[in-house]
Amino acid sequence: MYAMQKRKLFLICFLLLSPFGAMVRANPVDIGRELINLQTADLSMILMVGKDSLLYFQHFGRKIGDASPFLDKQTYRRVDYGTDPHAYYASGGTGYREPALRVTHSDGDLNTELAYLGHQQKILAAGNVTETTIALQDKKQHLLVELVIRAYMRENVFTQRVVIKNMQKGSVILHNFYSSYLPLRAKRYYLTSFHGAWAQEMFMEESPLNHGIKTIENKMGVRTTHTENPSFLLSLDTPLNEHAGDVIGGALAWSGNYKLNFQIDEFDILSITAGMNPYASEYRLAPGEAFHTPEMIYTYSTSGAGGVSRNLHDWARRYNVYDAETIRPTLLNSWEGAYFTFNEKTLTDMMDEAADMGLEMFVLDDGWFGNKYPRNSSNQGLGDWQVARDKLPRGISYLADYAVNKGLQFGIWIEPEMVNPKSELAENHPEWIVQAKGRPVPTTRGQWLLDMTNPQVQEFVFGVFDDVMQQSENISYIKWDANRHVESVGSAFLPADRQSHFWIEYIRGLYNVYERIRAKYPQVLIQACSSGGGRVDYGALKYHQEVWTSDNTDARSRIFIQYGTNMIYPALVTGSHVSAVPNHQTGNITPLKFRFDMAMSGRFGMELQPKDLSGEEKIFARKAIENYKGIRDIVMKGDLYRIISPYEGKGLYAIMYVSKDKKRAVVFDYCFEYQGRTRNSQLLRLHGLDPQKRYKLSELNVDKSSFWGNNKLFPGEYLMYEGINPRLQKIYDSAIFLLEEVEKSIEETK
Ligand code: GLA
Repeated sequence: MYAMQKRKLFLICFLLLSPFGAMVRANPVDIGRELINLQTADLSMILMVGKDSLLYFQHFGRKIGDASPFLDKQTYRRVDYGTDPHAYYASGGTGYREPALRVTHSDGDLNTELAYLGHQQKILAAGNVTETTIALQDKKQHLLVELVIRAYMRENVFTQRVVIKNMQKGSVILHNFYSSYLPLRAKRYYLTSFHGAWAQEMFMEESPLNHGIKTIENKMGVRTTHTENPSFLLSLDTPLNEHAGDVIGGALAWSGNYKLNFQIDEFDILSITAGMNPYASEYRLAPGEAFHTPEMIYTYSTSGAGGVSRNLHDWARRYNVYDAETIRPTLLNSWEGAYFTFNEKTLTDMMDEAADMGLEMFVLDDGWFGNKYPRNSSNQGLGDWQVARDKLPRGISYLADYAVNKGLQFGIWIEPEMVNPKSELAENHPEWIVQAKGRPVPTTRGQWLLDMTNPQVQEFVFGVFDDVMQQSENISYIKWDANRHVESVGSAFLPADRQSHFWIEYIRGLYNVYERIRAKYPQVLIQACSSGGGRVDYGALKYHQEVWTSDNTDARSRIFIQYGTNMIYPALVTGSHVSAVPNHQTGNITPLKFRFDMAMSGRFGMELQPKDLSGEEKIFARKAIENYKGIRDIVMKGDLYRIISPYEGKGLYAIMYVSKDKKRAVVFDYCFEYQGRTRNSQLLRLHGLDPQKRYKLSELNVDKSSFWGNNKLFPGEYLMYEGINPRLQKIYDSAIFLLEEVEKSIEETK
């Protein structure tokens, strides 16, 4: 009785003091059943407050306008058995599934049962986004939880993050603190996830889910997306199809350790718990402190994987990717063309060639810094961000000015979170290095990691960026690299009882620095690179315009890497470069046209020594770059339709992008295995066009097209319902077709 009175008093205080004060209930303890129906244009997410005042999850999927039957719905399951999924599953009470929240309260109590307090909704910018904050609190302990759910109307996306507040007198320990818990019901569940390794990122794998738990996770702290990616597609009832079927897409906006669990229980309910990885990360939350989880992003499409990608891309371009509006420049990056071996002339010659080919930016990669320990290999100098006097006597400003005089923008590489043991920085600040006390620090790629939990290190990292930017007002691009993951974890800054905070505080420290940088440098283009594709996530993309998709620039490998990456992330952000052959990773010798045709399906760049190209190759390159400038707005801003998957096993791959007004489209078509005599031509049934419009088809990057339809007019309905049949037969044949609406009727042109 006494406990109940205390709880009521607490609730009333909370309601009066919090933003929920506006909706104080007469008796918050005796809440009846109540529905919360969150909606987008086509979807509903429905939650219900039960008679027991717990918040239950009811529905995620196609829109249900009138959700009232949920109020009377009987499940015929034993409700006393803890069977009905909560909206945010906590460990304790009747809960037995993998908990989204697991807490040890200040008095040692291991149970948490979240009761509904109230909810508030507000409209965010542009009237397209609503944010609903649902307040919950433990039935006994003073622990508050807010579920913050955003609904993006047009994009059909929901995001959820959680705030956990400790209102107890002592510290509580958070063991699990996921961003969301999503229970689903279907006959079968087919999970498509992304896996890989360095230079082999974002390969796709589909598997039917069985009873038990399937987990996708990373524990490396940095470079967390090399191996698996915190994103997935989940097809309901049938295996994943590109154009049809109910598919859920999910992605976590977090650059640190993550964990996504897919658990099917004895009631065949699939529960997805997704968020930061609880691994070795017990979090001690002091009295009055609040813990914020990152956002988990969900969409649901009834038009297969394609619908999921288009929803996520639209959402990302409008609400997540930094400065998605700006068309990204084409560029020449010095890395694969020069590596560490260059002087001023090497670089200015490259700039001359870049300008001559029509590129728009030159990026100076690794190797430009270090004097006591010149950065002439990956083994020394990292951390010493002073221009190498021997190599570049006139400094960065000379190079940046040179670029600008040539009509190019100028970009530069940094890796500010890292340090070589052989560097002045490591000599001066051993306490800044991530290291388990008294244990040797392994050197991966000859380097160590700086402790971003330490505010002094954050200051240093901000300073590296700031100082580099101060070297010239003509710097418009920074390539931010991070070539190592966490090993032998330990922080000289964090106290002994907070060492387990390292994994989370590292990324929070990094995000703090990004925030400061963005406040000071809102315009600069920043690429997230982490040994290539190690930081491909929607957390990093809030601060970066693009990612370096992979260190593997081989055009054949890029088919699979970019196909997978663009399932979740839009082409606008995926750096895609033409490099030299034999390729530095794979040794593959792909024709120049195939390399260009591949790179032009993302954010285009080149990464080779241009003087090694023949005169003929340069003429081709110049024309292809001009062609790319003519189509890049469609690639970067259009709708992606995948036509042939490279996983179909036919050695063919085709995708297309369609402008939002459906007036222009570009089709990319590749053959990467000999087609034999039986397959004389492909059939590419196009998507996303307007069947009533007429389009002129023209093949790009060829002197003379071998396709019969080149320069002809086609009705949209022909292209969509019959399709085009280009003849790509030999290994590394490729084609790009531009479709442009022509207002005249076909008859008139005859
Ligand atoms: C990483 C990057 C490369 C290049 C090198 C330089 O591997 O992914 O693009 O910048 O570092 O050391």
